[in-house]
Amino acid sequence: MSRLIVVSNRVAVPGTSSAGGLAVALQAALEETGGIWFGWSGRIDPDDSGQVHEHDAGNIRYITVDLSKRDHDDYYNGFANRTLWPLLHFRVDLVDYSRITYAAYRRVNALFAEKLAPLLRDDDIVWIHDYHMIPMAKLLRELGVTARLGFFLHVPMPSSDLLAALPQHERLFEGLSSYDLIGFQTERDLERFQDYVRLFGRGRVISHGILETRKGKRLRAGAFPISIDTAQIEEQARAAAAKVGVKRLATSLSGRELAIGVDRLDYSKGLPERFRSFGRFLKRHPEHRGKLTFLQIAPVSRGEVLEYQKLRSELEQLSGHINGAHAEPDWTPVRYVNRNYPHPTLTGFYRLSRVGLVTPLRDGMNLVAKEYVAAQDPKNPGVLVLSTFAGAARELDGALLVNPYDMDGVADAIAAAMEMPLEERRDRWETMMAVLRENDITAWRRKYLAALREPI
Ligand code: G6P
Repeated sequence: MSRLIVVSNRVAVPGTSSAGGLAVALQAALEETGGIWFGWSGRIDPDDSGQVHEHDAGNIRYITVDLSKRDHDDYYNGFANRTLWPLLHFRVDLVDYSRITYAAYRRVNALFAEKLAPLLRDDDIVWIHDYHMIPMAKLLRELGVTARLGFFLHVPMPSSDLLAALPQHERLFEGLSSYDLIGFQTERDLERFQDYVRLFGRGRVISHGILETRKGKRLRAGAFPISIDTAQIEEQARAAAAKVGVKRLATSLSGRELAIGVDRLDYSKGLPERFRSFGRFLKRHPEHRGKLTFLQIAPVSRGEVLEYQKLRSELEQLSGHINGAHAEPDWTPVRYVNRNYPHPTLTGFYRLSRVGLVTPLRDGMNLVAKEYVAAQDPKNPGVLVLSTFAGAARELDGALLVNPYDMDGVADAIAAAMEMPLEERRDRWETMMAVLRENDITAWRRKYLAALREPI
């Protein structure tokens, strides 16, 4: 079997970063065939980009590249996170338009391509991830790479009208046609992409998922909803009850129910709306006051970007405000925590929670929603309150689906979760678990890689 080469901005080099769900999946994919994981080292060199680091573990070689302070500012904080991230999450109002950061984005992609191309063999399968790396295929082809190249977009694909706001949209998205397979999280993302191809790409959609560029090159596009290691999370959550942190949380509740949210501190996650919804819940449903505590875990993310700093102060204010208005001497309604927890501990927290609040304004998939479900106790499962704007809502229709902008609606869904009889909770949970057992992380990568290997 051909080698797998994974390319992503973040690389989970063993011992250097905590292994998130995606890291675990890609690691397992690489172990199957052996290969390379290539991307940014996470290091910032004060002067120059381009220093390469290599690390071997088993049959996987990790190859990572340092970025200069300027490239990190303009490529990562800049074009990736102040332009593409808001644009792809439908937030045109937050998009920063700058030729300087676009140039840095191209420059860093070109640097990555130049370091990667000489390492590739013709029969390699190259899988490139997410919005940081859109131009990679075109750049690799220009350097003579003939291996199969696949792309997977972890975030949403917005509608053409929104994308058109980006001055460089045609150049950027034209680059996608150098891939052999473009993967999206949901059918809706795929449809919006096909619309874009028809409207702006000057290409043809030959049939659902088969495209042809104006130069006559054919490529595939498909929906591959990413998932979790369902069996492992079930197991972790079961074992987590014995962990000190989980026991401490359970004791601290003094018999009250728990609602939990776990998100990077990001404006796409709808956190201010969620906090306000919880405030509304306390007002609209006074019978539940003092019976439910809301724990929001929100590790700080992309803290150098202004919008993220503003969000942080807003949430500090809001949590203070809700607690000020509703707390009792022996009960704090909102517990707001900016630190990160080891993954097994989080699964224990999920299992303790009567309500899982996953209410992003936009999200490619949202794996917390899937993990919350997989972590539940089958005998007494909690209720997932899930935004209809998360990719996960397409699969998890056993959740209470909400519109996160409708804060009264979210408040009522929290009340419904508190009041839901055990039998209904079990039925809904079983429906969702069936989906997660069938489409777990292994199924996801196998489907994607099989489609990438398939000749067109
Ligand atoms: C999202 C993106 C990933 C990104 C992650 C963490 O899930 O789709 O590409 O790695 O957020 O963000 P960060 O900026 O810390 O890499």
